[in-house]
Amino acid sequence: MKPDKQLPHESAELHVSGEAVYTDDIPELTGTLHCALGLSQCAHARIINIDLTAVRAAAGVVDVLTAKDIPGTNDCGPIIADDPILADGLVQCIGQPVFAVIATSYEAARSACGKAQIDYDELPAILTPKQALQEESYVVPPMHCHRGEPEEKLLSAAHRIKGELSIGGQEQFYLEGQISYAVPKEKDSLHVYCSTQHPTEMQHHIAGALNLSAHAVTVEVRRMGGGFGGKESQSAVFACVASIAAHRLQRPVKLRLDRDDDFMATGKRHCFYYQYDVGYDEAGIIQAAKIDMVLRAGYSTDLSPPVASRAVCHFDNAYYLSDVSIRAMCGKTNTQSNTAFRGFGGPQGAIAIEYIIDDIARNLGQEPLDVRRRNFYGKDSRNTTPYQQVVKDNVIYELVDQLEHSSDYRRRKQKIREFNKHSPVIKKGIALTPVKFGISFNVVHLNQAGALVHVYTDGSIMVNHGGTEMGQGLHTKVAQVVAATLGVGVSRVRSSSTVTDKVANTSATAASTGADLNGKAAQDAALQIKARLADFAAEQYGGQSEAVVFSEDQVLVNGSAVRFSELVSAAYEARVQLWSDGFYATPGLSWNQETLTGNPFYYFAYGAAVSEVAIDTLTGEMKVLRADLLHDVGNSLNEAIDIGQVEGGFIQGLGWLTFEELYWNDKGRLLTHAPSTYKIPAVNDCPVDFRTTLFDNENQADTIFRSKAAGEPPLLLSFSVLFAIRDAVASVADYQVNPKLEAPATPERILQAVAALQSMDH
Ligand code: MTE
Ligand code: HPA
Repeated sequence: MKPDKQLPHESAELHVSGEAVYTDDIPELTGTLHCALGLSQCAHARIINIDLTAVRAAAGVVDVLTAKDIPGTNDCGPIIADDPILADGLVQCIGQPVFAVIATSYEAARSACGKAQIDYDELPAILTPKQALQEESYVVPPMHCHRGEPEEKLLSAAHRIKGELSIGGQEQFYLEGQISYAVPKEKDSLHVYCSTQHPTEMQHHIAGALNLSAHAVTVEVRRMGGGFGGKESQSAVFACVASIAAHRLQRPVKLRLDRDDDFMATGKRHCFYYQYDVGYDEAGIIQAAKIDMVLRAGYSTDLSPPVASRAVCHFDNAYYLSDVSIRAMCGKTNTQSNTAFRGFGGPQGAIAIEYIIDDIARNLGQEPLDVRRRNFYGKDSRNTTPYQQVVKDNVIYELVDQLEHSSDYRRRKQKIREFNKHSPVIKKGIALTPVKFGISFNVVHLNQAGALVHVYTDGSIMVNHGGTEMGQGLHTKVAQVVAATLGVGVSRVRSSSTVTDKVANTSATAASTGADLNGKAAQDAALQIKARLADFAAEQYGGQSEAVVFSEDQVLVNGSAVRFSELVSAAYEARVQLWSDGFYATPGLSWNQETLTGNPFYYFAYGAAVSEVAIDTLTGEMKVLRADLLHDVGNSLNEAIDIGQVEGGFIQGLGWLTFEELYWNDKGRLLTHAPSTYKIPAVNDCPVDFRTTLFDNENQADTIFRSKAAGEPPLLLSFSVLFAIRDAVASVADYQVNPKLEAPATPERILQAVAALQSMDH
């Protein structure tokens, strides 16, 4: 049986009716206390003195914690132990947690926080990636991926462009903020409800902070109200603080962040600063490319190294680069410690080459789509990436051809050119950009998953796996896999909360691998049960067990049709094991972090988008008039969910590249820390005409039902919006000049770019 491609999200009705239970909705146990965090007010300073007397005396306050109250390790860094749970003597960013107040109510805890007296001895602060580059302030040594002879090829190329570029970061802006609710249990153990993409890592950090064994800590996640990477590692500080308080006071403790504190305390998408030098020929084919990328890691390492290496591995995007030098530096700055965000450095790597190709096309006066196509990876040659993986599943030609045709790209471009000639204020622009995105964690050992499938005697089924649900539909897809494998309707299958005491040692639900990994693990478990049931059926009814068919809630065996539930019940009585574990490890992966070479990806997902925009050259306002998205999710497990992912990813990327601006003042204080000052896309920012199609393709790799990951790659489709805006701006100078338009292309930046062209003599 095949999965039902139009099945709604398993919690769709609960989401819209408000019945879906998020961590803060769990009924509070008697005696529950509430926690709030005191945050650093200095970007870089030694703490000379902390006076918490007034905090302790405030109404409702039960306890106050500082670093010295942590019984175990004061660290929650995912890779390197440089991430104190509570600052110990040194603060490295405005917003870093320094102390925690535990009170009888949320309001009491928050208001007491403001009464602390902290004396700081300020130290010099590094605030921008450029400054980090100048001072060689890095959290890990620079990375370098090199192939061929870029220096020589640059000298011999017919044309050369050098430039620099800055692309902003982005706040995850999950609707449900960071939250943990820790409940002490018997014999020194804890049960922690946490909004996290990584229950296992939370378990380890909590155990470490409390000097407990991992088995004493159980972490549970039913669902998150969005994670977007922001809850891969950074849920840890909240999980740890709530747990330390609960353990110390032996009372349940909830730590729910206020939105402003969430903005101030947690890391975001890394902003990037690039310097590039590229040589190309008359046809716009790139002969050599050198790029240095500096990412704003923030004050600690967090996940910056794998983010940087994914950026390195996505600088090529869909293009063959014969001679390259790609360097990445994780700049240590006195700002929030940046972290995972949908795409994980991939978008920041790929946007640089798109910017460069956009420049090349305008320099040569050629159609950017033609230049892009000429640089695409070949099918049989010119198909080795700079990091030495061979691209074997390339469908970019077919996909882009289809989109060019279905979006009527060239005719609309002509019409836009005509329109602009006669429209002095409103200018339109259009762009088509491709996507190639590598799927797998770029840390090989993380590509594993486990699952448990229980078939109960009434024929209903429970599946539990290591992946977490954050709205992306993972539980729906995994339930579909189990149902399809056992030949039953999906209403028989329920996905339960993710809990560390069921499946152990899980990876984060990240890198878009949720369904690939957990779907395969659940299928493995279901296949084992199916094999046992088939043997039992053949024993009972005769025939070969291999010939037994499970379909439409029936089992067809030796000419008889038996109801699934009937067979299950009989099998139980015959003492057949009706539950199983399952495991999956992605095959064929390799990665050398020193040389940045190997086969880090099991396969690639492809896509392309055409966006048409209009800008107002007097106000800088921008509107996306139409967007056509064509995206490859392989043989979709669930088209309804995948279209949601494609559209959601595109809109989130559009926000990143246009309205969402993070602004730190010269003291390192983030001033855009609430929806009042930080604008995310709203419904009226969606394209007026929005067309999304899934590309008809089957994964060449042996993934679950030959599907492909859908979570992150579509975010890169939003590049087309930035380049359509650039096209519109370029019309002001009759397409003769490359406008400088960095992201986010806010109205101010659009206006500046227009003004710069208008003031030029051309
Ligand atoms: N979709 C929703 N609705 N909410 C989310 O938080 N996170 C994205 C993507 N889609 C996210 C989402 C990110 S960052 C990733 S890595 C994937 O979902 C993770 O889920 P998957 O691996 O099951 O696709
Ligand atoms: N994506 C998301 N999270 C990760 C990755 C990745 O590629 N590698 C390590 N953690």
